[in-house]
Amino acid sequence: MKKARITGTGSYLPEKILTNVDLEKFVDTTDEWIRTRTGICERHVAADGEDTSDLAVNAAKKAMEMAGVTADELDLIVVGTITGDFPWPSTACLVQDKLGAKNAVAYDISAACSGFIFALDAATKQIQTGSAQKALVIGAEIFTRVIDWEDRNTCVLFGDGAGAVILETSEGDAGIISTHLHSDGSYWELLYQPGFGARNPASEQGLKDKVPFLKMQGNEVFKVAVRSLSDVAFEALEANGLTAEDVDLFIPHQANMRILDATAKRIGFKEEQVYINVDRYANTSAATIPIALDEANLAGKIKQGDLLLFDAFGGGFTWGSVLLRW
Ligand code: ACO
Repeated sequence: MKKARITGTGSYLPEKILTNVDLEKFVDTTDEWIRTRTGICERHVAADGEDTSDLAVNAAKKAMEMAGVTADELDLIVVGTITGDFPWPSTACLVQDKLGAKNAVAYDISAACSGFIFALDAATKQIQTGSAQKALVIGAEIFTRVIDWEDRNTCVLFGDGAGAVILETSEGDAGIISTHLHSDGSYWELLYQPGFGARNPASEQGLKDKVPFLKMQGNEVFKVAVRSLSDVAFEALEANGLTAEDVDLFIPHQANMRILDATAKRIGFKEEQVYINVDRYANTSAATIPIALDEANLAGKIKQGDLLLFDAFGGGFTWGSVLLRW
């Protein structure tokens, strides 16, 4: 079996920043409530005319530059997103067109906040089996367009952004060691976007009922998220005969600070092992892990030979981990 290794990282956050204090002006909330319940201070918001594929392309170009890979050389593009430009065609096809990556097979993965982990798993397996040699894997979302800005329970939690990696065939110790994925559709109603789709097609009444916006039962999501995130991290460590102490950097999905704290504590990570940026970007769903990875990489926090663990949980429910040697 061939090895798949990350050779480039990139990320993009839209220019506009919306702080908690800005939110106080039009939502019945306070900076203090948001900070203490979630750890979030601000989030980025895509500009009018800026689409998910634009965010994705901006992140992709940086990852390609770092890896020294041209658009022609890409043979696979996988985008984790649930807020793509259109229901179809896939955002990956739009990214392929914008990059001019004519030789790449392109498709999206719908796994909500676990989208990047599921996409990375798919690309890794294609590289390991020789179906692809140079893959672009992206997590990109514009969540601010699918939330109800009058619902204080949800609108304070999310932001927009994109992160990308180049994954290539490689030799040697560096590369993806294992991936573990799970789904449990019985929880679908705890976190979902009711419309517009085949079950709830577009209608004026649907718009009045706010059908196109995200619905969430926060307390229930919280409990299952912490349990699943820690279980799948243990699964990765146990499968490879490792313990939390062996991990140099843990990059969990950045949903909110309390989920991050409870998960890291349950697994047994020390504060310095955990990468956190939810305070600045809020929850960018499938984009949180590749954005955090790129930030950590550019800040020199990752050294050759380091052991990294990614861990995500999202709507579906879906959850998964990726263990890799840098
Ligand atoms: N500002 C002020 N008050 C608020 C706000 C707000 N933005 N939102 C809710 N409240 C109020 C509620 O109305 C409620 O008031 P009440 O007691 O008068 O009815 C009170 O705060 C407490 O509400 P709870 O839902 O019990 O608050 P909780 O402490 O559970 O925190 C939160 C809510 C932050 C959503 C929490 O449940 C959570 O973190 N859940 C996880 C959800 C999540 O992160 N989802 C992201 C997608 S899944 C993922 O990425 C893992």
